[in-house]
Order: sequence, then C-alpha cells, then structure tokens
Amino acid sequence: MFHASPWRSDFPAIAALQHQQQTYLDSAATTQKPHALIDAIGQYYAQGAANVHRAQHLPGSLATRAFEASREKVAQWLNASSAEQIVFTHGATSALNLLAYGLAEQFQPGDELVISAAEHHANLLPWQQLAKRRGLSLRVLPLEASGVVDLQAAAQIIGPRTRVLAVSQLSNVFGAWQPLSPLLALARAQGATTVVDGAQGVVHGRHDVEHMQCDFYVFSSHKLYGPDGVGVLYGRREALLKLAHWQFGGEMVHQADYQSASFHPAPLGHEAGTPPIASVIGLGATLDYLSGLDTQAVAEHEAGLHAQLLAGLRARSGVQLLGAPQVALASFVVEGVHNADLAHLLTDQGIAVRAGHHCAMPLMKHLGLSGCIRVSLGLYNDSGDLQRFFEGLDKALEILV
Ligand SMILES: Cc1ncc(COP(=O)(O)O)c(C=O)c1O
Repeated sequence: MFHASPWRSDFPAIAALQHQQQTYLDSAATTQKPHALIDAIGQYYAQGAANVHRAQHLPGSLATRAFEASREKVAQWLNASSAEQIVFTHGATSALNLLAYGLAEQFQPGDELVISAAEHHANLLPWQQLAKRRGLSLRVLPLEASGVVDLQAAAQIIGPRTRVLAVSQLSNVFGAWQPLSPLLALARAQGATTVVDGAQGVVHGRHDVEHMQCDFYVFSSHKLYGPDGVGVLYGRREALLKLAHWQFGGEMVHQADYQSASFHPAPLGHEAGTPPIASVIGLGATLDYLSGLDTQAVAEHEAGLHAQLLAGLRARSGVQLLGAPQVALASFVVEGVHNADLAHLLTDQGIAVRAGHHCAMPLMKHLGLSGCIRVSLGLYNDSGDLQRFFEGLDKALEILV
C-alpha cells in the first residue's frame, strides 16, 4: 500500500531536496520546516526586530507579546498548567546542562544520579560531569533486548540514595518508548527529582507533562518541525523554584549592585541575555501549524510508514534491526558490512540517512558495534521515499556483500 503524505507540500524543502535528487530520511536528527514557520520568521524580521522584555517602544512590545504568546503555546502543547513553567533554552542539550548545574547544590557526596544505558550524550554527559565534580555516583539502568529499561533491575538500582532519575522518553537509537510511568513512580517513591528527555518523544503524538508527573521535561524545537537555536525546559512549579540560577546577565536580574544581586524566579530568571527571539516566535507558529493537523491521521500515517520500513528491513537477509522499534525510526546493521561503507553508498545515491554512533557511544560499545545506520521518518515522508531507500539499499548491498 502506498502511504502518501497530505502534508508534504507544507514543507517547501522536500520539493527542493527532491530537485537535488535527495531523499530525506534523517528527521530524528533534525526536521524540515513548514511554510508557517518560514513565513513567521520572515515576517518578524521584515516588520521590525526588537529586543524583548526591555524596550518600551512599539516594536519592543510587539516582539515581547509574540515571544510570550509562544510560551503560552508551548505550555498548551505540553498541557502545563501555566506558561511560567516554560523556560526557553537553546535546545534540549542546554536545558539538560541547566538542570545539571541548577540542581547541583541539592546533592551531597555519595548521592546517586540514575540514567538509562540508552541515553543520548546530552542526557549522559551533564550528569556524568556533575557526578565527578560533586563526588556523586552515576548509576546506569540496564536495558532489555528491545531497548527499553529493565524495570526489575531499575527497582533494584533506584533507591534511597537516588537523587535524580534522568531518562529519555523515546530512544533516538531504538525508537522504543521507555516505560516512563513505572520508572518515574520508582523514582518519586524515593523522593528523587525526575527528568524526562523528550527530544525524540515530543515529536510523535501529544504528551501531557502533568499526567506524566515528571519534575522536568525538555525538548528541542528543531526536531519538532520548528527552528533551531531554541529549546524548552518545562518544570513542575516547586521544582523550578528550587533550581539555582546558572547563567547571569541581562533581564534575569531583579536588583543588582556592585557586590550583590537578586534574581527573577523562573522562567525569566533562567533566561539570561537576549533569547533567540525569532526562533521562539517561529516555534509558536510551528505549534499553531501542528495543532491544526488531524492527530489521528498523523498517527496513522506515521504507523503505516513505520510498518513499511520495518517490513522492508526484516525482508532483507543479513539486515539486523537494533531492539524493537515502535515508532518513527529504525536502526540496523548488516552482517559483514561497515556502517560507514553502507552510508557512503547510500549518500552517493541521494539517500540521506544517519550513520555512526548517534551520540550514544557507550550504548554502541555495550552493543559491541562501531555504529549503525538509522532511518528516521517525518510527517512529509511517503512510501516513495522508502521505495527509493530500499532500491538504494539493495544496490549498495549488491556491491558490499
Ligand atoms: C534523545 C535525544 N536527546 C537529546 C538530544 C539533543 O538535542 P539537541 O542537540 O537538539 O540539543 C537528541 C538529539 O539528537 C536526542 O535524540
């Protein structure tokens, strides 16, 4: 069955890429952008850029209004009860670094930070480095073969010394949803702070942070069809208020003299300096666009294409899938073939997939792999893209195997 994407023409880059003989299958790295976003950013710059939260002039108040409207839209997208729970950062990575610094003062030597073995470097290295600085111990939850956390092992590891549990919602390597509800419950029972890396998860379906009952949830706009340079840190109100300030400068300060200062609470207190104004406004326009889509139709399209991707990979001998992908992407290796060689031959045929360690080096080492190939899907992909991928794969394998 051919799955056509009714949203393909909303993304002008898809036609441009096709014109360059490129088939884009790397949306888990970053997505193409809808007209709605491109127009909003163009309009902001064309009509008069201005800094936010400081100028009294008209362009300044218009920019501030549009900027704060985006904060409201993000809060609605995540079902946060208030826009004050939304801090704009420069991406998921900077949100996770903010947390690792902002929480640091709450820990004593010997306390434990817990992550899963499937984490992206962005949700590993800030905690690893914090552990080193503060004499904490970093504990790693093992995975089942499907790529999700082994809950029995998690129940042994998460204990009274656990101060933080930081896990991804959806793995960027396995495409598998973590069992967040029981995992977070284990951490909450120990009074630990819970952090969910929603960088991949936020893109697929709607997620309700209140229902999730996490303390913090982070994502990057650019993976959600939005502009780059902006990310989101959602925080439960009490958890946000306990977070220490980590960057200092303009607009986050309440009162300052030469020897001391006091700071705004969240969100502004964690947004030092000029924020990525155009990108925040663009993210708001992207969320307007996404909110207008038929969520059921999107879910069915994603599921249909994903099933086609998995079936095609499973049908090819020597292809070995990593874990049990549930949505949007699939990573694989081919027996006797180096992923870089395969990626090279796919690239030569205009197939844009990702190869390598996917910013999860410890996971690759654990799996005994030097890397793998990842195919990932966006709203705009259709069965034609997958046909071109499989033709390219077959040609490459004829040469390599
Ligand atoms: C699961 C996960 N977490 C975090 C990140 C980091 O996102 P960014 O580079 O946009 O900060 C990524 C990016 O690939 C990711 O896949």
